[in-house]
Amino acid sequence: MPQHDIAYYMRPGTLQLGSLPPLSLYIHLPWCLKKCPYCDFNSHEMRSAELPEQRYLDALMADLESALPLIWGRSVQTIFIGGGTPSLFSPQAIDQLLSGLRARLRLAANAEITLEANPGTFEKDRFRAYRSAGVTRLSVGIQSFDDVLLQTLGRVHNRAQALDALAEAATVFDTFNLDLMYALPGQTLAQLRTEVDTALSFAPGHLSIYHLTIEPNTVFAKYPPAPVDDDLAADMLDLLTERTAGAGLQRYEVSAYAQAGHVCQHNLNYWQFGDYLGIGAGAHSKLSFAHRVVRQVRLREPSRYMTQALAGNALAQAHEISRTDLPFEFMLNATRLAGGFELALFVERTGLPMTVIAQALEAAEQQGLMTRDLQWIRPTVRGFDFLNDLQSLFLPNTA
Ligand SMILES: C[S@@+](CC[C@H](N)C(=O)[O-])C[C@H]1O[C@@H](n2cnc3c(N)ncnc32)[C@H](O)[C@@H]1O
Ligand code: SF4
Repeated sequence: MPQHDIAYYMRPGTLQLGSLPPLSLYIHLPWCLKKCPYCDFNSHEMRSAELPEQRYLDALMADLESALPLIWGRSVQTIFIGGGTPSLFSPQAIDQLLSGLRARLRLAANAEITLEANPGTFEKDRFRAYRSAGVTRLSVGIQSFDDVLLQTLGRVHNRAQALDALAEAATVFDTFNLDLMYALPGQTLAQLRTEVDTALSFAPGHLSIYHLTIEPNTVFAKYPPAPVDDDLAADMLDLLTERTAGAGLQRYEVSAYAQAGHVCQHNLNYWQFGDYLGIGAGAHSKLSFAHRVVRQVRLREPSRYMTQALAGNALAQAHEISRTDLPFEFMLNATRLAGGFELALFVERTGLPMTVIAQALEAAEQQGLMTRDLQWIRPTVRGFDFLNDLQSLFLPNTA
């Protein structure tokens, strides 16, 4: 598939999208001080003094400019600067990045602009300046408040730094998220209660809580830590839902909890099968056109990415999502939302008629995994607990 040839993407096809979905922008900053043993994100170790800030910013702008024809005339609803550790970039660099984006894109009024930050001392001191640069929402990667667990996870920060960073985030930002992980090696239910209660004591608008997963090609895959048994993990999830609900946060997605008005608009757009342009090393995009939906992936290795982006050619792969795969890809995202989605959204986002999922929907209803009325489809509590079973009903061969 040609790199960014708009005529190629606009040519006739069998899908009929009546309108294009909301568009988000993801920017990947691929470096960290130290690689965590559980992490399979595209992140690479780098000392902060050696960070090629300016060259990377130039590459990002070149990357964006090459992609502009594909999003011509559309405004960007949300921006997410993720990593890696974006807070390794100085506030001046983030300011330059956001100014560069504003000069090249139409940004919606009150657009949510999130930056991921790690809780280190020098990073905490930058929060205020990130806000001045235009960041509206901080996402702080806490993972745990327990010094022993933090060490097991290979994190570079400790409990005191986690507490300091959150106190600062809560003071500086109107809305912020914190990431926690649970089902950690040796973790007890009582320990998890303390973790959640500590997180909640900062009154975050948003909490993301992930079950630790062992990903292929990580240090943990090679040297697996003691697993937490399934019954304990299920009790942990019940505890998380109960404690967060008690503090006014609703579990609106599998791993996301938010107070009213603090749902992450950027991630919500992913789960509603919206569009996103991803720039930066290894970034993924999903872009819709009148007759097709396309996925792209940028080159993963940072130095190759920079060279190629500067030469106007940062793509590693691009492909069109086939008619047969589209329903499953839509459902893979939409079923993660506790509140479900409107029937019309399926047609709007896939350009396909509802009839293509009618059989699978009926099966899901019969198995008690989904409910629907004339307007909405939502997973049942059981469907949410057995999400893989629910999603697999929409696999191409069974849909
Ligand atoms: C892109 S990562 C990085 C954010 C930031 N660099 C950090 O580590 O704090 C986003 C989140 O994914 C979660 N995560 C990463 N690897 C995970 C794994 N193997 N299992 C569960 N959660 C994971 C962590 O909570 C992390 O904060
Ligand atoms: S700091 Fe975050 S992105 Fe970097 S290696 Fe650790 S989990 Fe991955």
